[in-house]
Amino acid sequence: MQEELIKKAGKYLANTYNRYPITATKGEGCWLWDLEGRRYLDFLAGIAVCNLGHARKEVIDGLTAQAAKLFHVSNLFYMEPQVKAAQLLVENSFGDKVFFCNSGAEANEAAIKLARRYSWKRYGEGRHEIIVMENSFHGRTMATLSATGQFKFHEGFAPMLPGFVYVPFNNLSAAEKAINEKTCAVMLEPIQAEGGIYPADKEYFTALRTMTKEKDILMILDEVQTGMGRTGKFFAYEHYGVEPDIMSLAKALGNGFPVGAIVAKDEVMEAFVPGTHAATFGGNPLAASAVIATINALIDEGVIKHCEEIGQYLYQGLLSLKKKYPFIIDIRGMGLIRGIELSIDGDSIQREFMKEGIILNCTKGRILRLVPPLIVNKEEIDIFLETADRIFSKQPKGENG
Ligand SMILES: Cc1ncc(COP(=O)(O)O)c(C=O)c1O
Repeated sequence: MQEELIKKAGKYLANTYNRYPITATKGEGCWLWDLEGRRYLDFLAGIAVCNLGHARKEVIDGLTAQAAKLFHVSNLFYMEPQVKAAQLLVENSFGDKVFFCNSGAEANEAAIKLARRYSWKRYGEGRHEIIVMENSFHGRTMATLSATGQFKFHEGFAPMLPGFVYVPFNNLSAAEKAINEKTCAVMLEPIQAEGGIYPADKEYFTALRTMTKEKDILMILDEVQTGMGRTGKFFAYEHYGVEPDIMSLAKALGNGFPVGAIVAKDEVMEAFVPGTHAATFGGNPLAASAVIATINALIDEGVIKHCEEIGQYLYQGLLSLKKKYPFIIDIRGMGLIRGIELSIDGDSIQREFMKEGIILNCTKGRILRLVPPLIVNKEEIDIFLETADRIFSKQPKGENG
């Protein structure tokens, strides 16, 4: 059954992904099942998407109730769920207003457009440059690809859009030097996630914020992967004690239902007026019902606090492994977004985990990315840690080094 499906996928699907040889058919909490009934512990959660776990009852109930009433009417109408979803985002963030779209790339596109439009309104033509970070990841559309500071992703797609200036991450003086009269915004992830789980240093982040404020340069924070409780706070910027001007969200915003958004302060979002930006599906009643259910469950069930605590438990376990295995170079991250940097091949280790029934992801060939559902419990973390210990002990530079 599995082989047949995998063969058919090769025949009918564009070859854009290196897929795992797993046919995912059912999920529940932190667990996934394949077509043949094998169970996997899911430490990937659809790449930091299913923060409340698979088949979360509140989200199913919210979606099914809404599906029976109204899927879609377009943004030419007022829609109760959309307004409610926006209100929940505003009440739980720095922002005043929300624009809904459908994905992370689309959210970042909106953020880029908004920053340029805001600057154009205040200062006129020519102040359009956005300072972006090396090793960042913002999406695959042309503007977000251009904003992405990992040049391997640019290959074959030249020319990139003009107006993006790349500087090293966590380097304040580089950002300072790059700022000039053409700069309208700085764009960054609070934790470079796809880039290998590199958090922004607190000093750097707060100083960057001060610098951008002084020069009326907007800060766009890409919280597509770090938002919605992933770091142990609702949004990662809360760890730093400063706020951005524009924040992009997607991934866990609908716990798996495709939806994205930007959140901004009133004076910034005012740059968008009718006709300047749009998305046919953006925040339709069905998507909005997923957002409402997701946010309510995150808050009502204490999921974010749990994430912070269990994230610490995972971190301590990872530190113990680091002490034992010299090929673990570094453990990074916050809450339940953690990276294990190895000096040995991570792709083969990732495949070992898969054989042992644990799904995780390897980025940059050497960094294991752990982004389990935020509801993961101690027993499930222990299964992961014990399996990791077993796999690591079999590596050439393992326990006895
Ligand atoms: C930080 C960040 N921004 C943007 C994106 C793009 O999101 P999407 O794949 O929904 O377009 C991703 C996806 O991995 C991401 O991690």
